[in-house]
Amino acid sequence: MAYDFDTLVDRDPAIRGTGKYRIMKDSKGNKPPKGIVPFSVADMEFKTAPEIIEAIKAEADFGVFGYHRLTDGFRQACCDWMKRRHDWQISPEWIIPFEQVVPALYNAVYAFTEPGDGIIVQKPAYHHFFHVTQHCGRTVVENPLKLVDGKYYFDFDDLREKAKSAKMLMLCSPYNPVGRVWTEEELKELGDICIENGVLVIADEIHHDLIQKPFVHKVFASLGEKYAKNCIVTTSLSKTFNLAGLCFASIIIPDPELRNRFTKQMNVLGFLHINRLGVVAAEAAYKKGDAWLDELIEYVKGNYEFFKTFMAEKFPKVKVYDMEGTYLAWFDMGPLGLGPKELDTFLTDDAMLYLDPDTAFGVKGECFQRINLACPRKLLSDALDRLYAAAKAKGLA
Ligand SMILES: Cc1ncc(COP(=O)(O)O)c(C=O)c1O
Repeated sequence: MAYDFDTLVDRDPAIRGTGKYRIMKDSKGNKPPKGIVPFSVADMEFKTAPEIIEAIKAEADFGVFGYHRLTDGFRQACCDWMKRRHDWQISPEWIIPFEQVVPALYNAVYAFTEPGDGIIVQKPAYHHFFHVTQHCGRTVVENPLKLVDGKYYFDFDDLREKAKSAKMLMLCSPYNPVGRVWTEEELKELGDICIENGVLVIADEIHHDLIQKPFVHKVFASLGEKYAKNCIVTTSLSKTFNLAGLCFASIIIPDPELRNRFTKQMNVLGFLHINRLGVVAAEAAYKKGDAWLDELIEYVKGNYEFFKTFMAEKFPKVKVYDMEGTYLAWFDMGPLGLGPKELDTFLTDDAMLYLDPDTAFGVKGECFQRINLACPRKLLSDALDRLYAAAKAKGLA
């Protein structure tokens, strides 16, 4: 590999303020010893691509950090990326700069729904889909995914019913947390049900650059004109290149009327400015990031295979689901025989393995877990060794 994904980066929270490290606590509220790395929140333990670091340094040397407007250079680089990597032809004016994806979800909910309206959230879900809906005073309409022969699918029969009482659907594509890359047929069927019922699709595609071969991601708006007219697509390079702290996202809306309503709402809510360094980083990534990203995807695949093999050998009853996209693997520790609370305590207190709590994805009461595999392999193997040793000591392995 030309790029280095093996070096451990010390993200000491006391010095760097690293968010996901700061929230690590065991069941008694104690912090783990130094050196323990969390496998929870979706950012990576890798430095971003050197090409991006260079661009940020050059901008820092420029030294003026005044208000920023999106440049034509950025817009073109984004269009080229979407065509090159997603076979999606977009126009520069479709891109609306935003500080992050989650605030853009709030903006969309306020722009396109009224208090009390139903918003379809598919479960298990990225937790902010629930929060955004509830905080805006809208109603969560649950449409859980179906688990059939060890694979997750949309439940279309349920969706047909639920869509009758909803105005919007939050689609996660590819799917955090279960790792599915939806097929074109699946997306079209979902899109058709939404169109028939007047349900607007918010296609959160923040993970859409992170696709494992042979799976192919289809951007929702590229399914055809009628789908493009009934969606907004939220994208960002924050997952792809580990840029979340630079707070910049691109919301892409092909339909002029939807775009207009969305941007008007931004003025109402005061979403007026973007982070200059975020745009600089994203433009460099769109122009020069392909090679780094291709290697990252390979490396993460290696981590997934390592994880899956380890679990099959040491915890044969634990089900590890296929990770078709994202860098987040989904697995079921129910067969270990612990309840959800006991399992969380065992993971943090005994194994010092910090994942997300069982409530994070709206599947309270179950023992599904998500592990973030975007880290040097040594960190993963040390964490898994700790898990196995702790399980043996408790008679669980
Ligand atoms: C599906 C999904 N949407 C949005 C986000 C967060 O995006 P942002 O940090 O741009 O708000 C995440 C982060 O994990 C995510 O998984």
